[in-house]
Amino acid sequence: MSRQRHRVILLVGFMGAGKTSVGKMLAEQLHGRFVDLDDLVVVQEGRSIAQIFEEAGESGFRSRESAALQQLLSELTSSGNAVVALGGGALSQPENRAALERSGFPRIFLDAPVEVLFRRCASQNLQRPLLKEFSTFRDLYSSRQSHYSSAAFRIETENKSVAEVCNQIRSLLGAETLGTKEND
Ligand code: S3P
Repeated sequence: MSRQRHRVILLVGFMGAGKTSVGKMLAEQLHGRFVDLDDLVVVQEGRSIAQIFEEAGESGFRSRESAALQQLLSELTSSGNAVVALGGGALSQPENRAALERSGFPRIFLDAPVEVLFRRCASQNLQRPLLKEFSTFRDLYSSRQSHYSSAAFRIETENKSVAEVCNQIRSLLGAETLGTKEND
């Protein structure tokens, strides 16, 4: 795989996995930009994820999410370092999985026990339309495992700081392939 391709890192995983916190810090370390796919949808739509779910349903959200992902992937191929956080359900769409595969960008699966993910989500003041009672959350998490597991690496985030997770990603992918200076 070429050096250029490793300059984009995709973070995948369920709600509460820490994709946004890790993505922001990692992007800073790599002197790159952080992109949150959900934020792109929100900006393009001019309304929140919760509103999109309410007004267009989950399928309406998924089609917007797919369109934003396709557009983003085409832009990323010609831009510098970037770390992208994908929403927890972005891999549910076969066309998204195919586009991500074609891109060749490494996917990192951030994970934690489902009880920990649920606790983290419950403690965050974020509107997540698919955050319901624990049993539903757990079933959704289980149903998505095969998609997340297709990532190049899985990182367990329980009991780790954001900085520790970033370090692990950097050493897994190799700092030099990420476009950073050797002594960075
Ligand atoms: C979703 C996860 C959310 C967001 C939307 C749907 C999901 O993103 O895309 O609420 O289907 O798991 P985060 O994983 O960043 O919470």
